[in-house]
Amino acid sequence: METKELIIANIKVPVPIIQGGMAVRISTAPLAGAVANEGGIGIIAGTGMTVKELIAEIRKARAITKGTLGVNVLFAVRNFADLVKAAIEEGIDLIISGAGFSRDMFSWGKKYGTPIVPIVSSAKLAMLAEKLGAAAVVVEGKEAGGHLGTDRPLKDILKEVLKSIKIPVIAAGGIISGQDIGEVMKIGAVGVQMGTIFAASEESNASAEMKQIYLRAKEQDVAIIKSPVGFPGRVIKNDFYKALIKKDLSNIHPCSACLKRCSKDFCIMDALLNACKTGNPDKALVFAGEKVYNIREILPVSTIFKTLLNELTNK
Ligand SMILES: Cc1cc2nc3c(=O)[nH]c(=O)nc-3n(C[C@H](O)[C@H](O)[C@H](O)COP(=O)(O)O)c2cc1C
Repeated sequence: METKELIIANIKVPVPIIQGGMAVRISTAPLAGAVANEGGIGIIAGTGMTVKELIAEIRKARAITKGTLGVNVLFAVRNFADLVKAAIEEGIDLIISGAGFSRDMFSWGKKYGTPIVPIVSSAKLAMLAEKLGAAAVVVEGKEAGGHLGTDRPLKDILKEVLKSIKIPVIAAGGIISGQDIGEVMKIGAVGVQMGTIFAASEESNASAEMKQIYLRAKEQDVAIIKSPVGFPGRVIKNDFYKALIKKDLSNIHPCSACLKRCSKDFCIMDALLNACKTGNPDKALVFAGEKVYNIREILPVSTIFKTLLNELTNK
């Protein structure tokens, strides 16, 4: 299959690959900038950051790329509106909202001409997003790493969404090779969003130990947990996971009440941030997609893009 450029409202990039936003601090400026430099869309994860930190991260990314950059924020965080508005005012190229969206965020984007792209997991939500003014939607299936909005396979939902809306549809979840990209584009997706493959890249902010966990993971090492956010989440079965299953986690202290709603079973922000800290692999919640076992090497983003495009075009 030939590579097609990805067009979302006023944005046009030569390679139809979006690097999914990955919190907390897995996808920061070096990763987003490297992806943008390859002609894809690089996404900074704003979740878990203050407005000041997010602005600094956007500026760092801008300093290393002239390509297209977006910000992803989880709708569940209390400072969602502040982060999204700050990123828009800072001139970010697009916003992707994860695990929900609000009516008013579309008007914030409209004011500055910034495309707003929600992640959805059903045709019903895709239709609502289109009606409210989304420039495109990311359709995410149950194969994805991180929080999940469905237990259904990507391709089933993708077909239903494509029949229901006219705005561009980007596919996410379990896409890890050029062949995978080709398959969802044949169904009708205009592009893909990929997370796990980039979490394990050289430019990812995950710690070296965490990248080794990705590298060692086998098919049976991936499981679903109940996240304090209120959604299921796909993770790797490390020591943290085992403690979570045994309900053997220490109390949250201190709690900054960063989420709009939280079960308080454990602090998800701390647990996710530990994936970036050296010496903490057993205290980290490691989000990963179903196909993590396909990752065999920690590679620079440029090599990942080259391989994916060669596979896509069958070279
Ligand atoms: C480590 C990690 C962290 C993630 N964090 C977020 C996030 O903060 N917000 C979000 O909307 N999606 C998040 N995701 C989902 C990705 O953006 C992407 O949609 C998903 O990983 C695609 O599935 P794949 O991992 O099989 O490629 C995360 C995924 C991973 C692996």
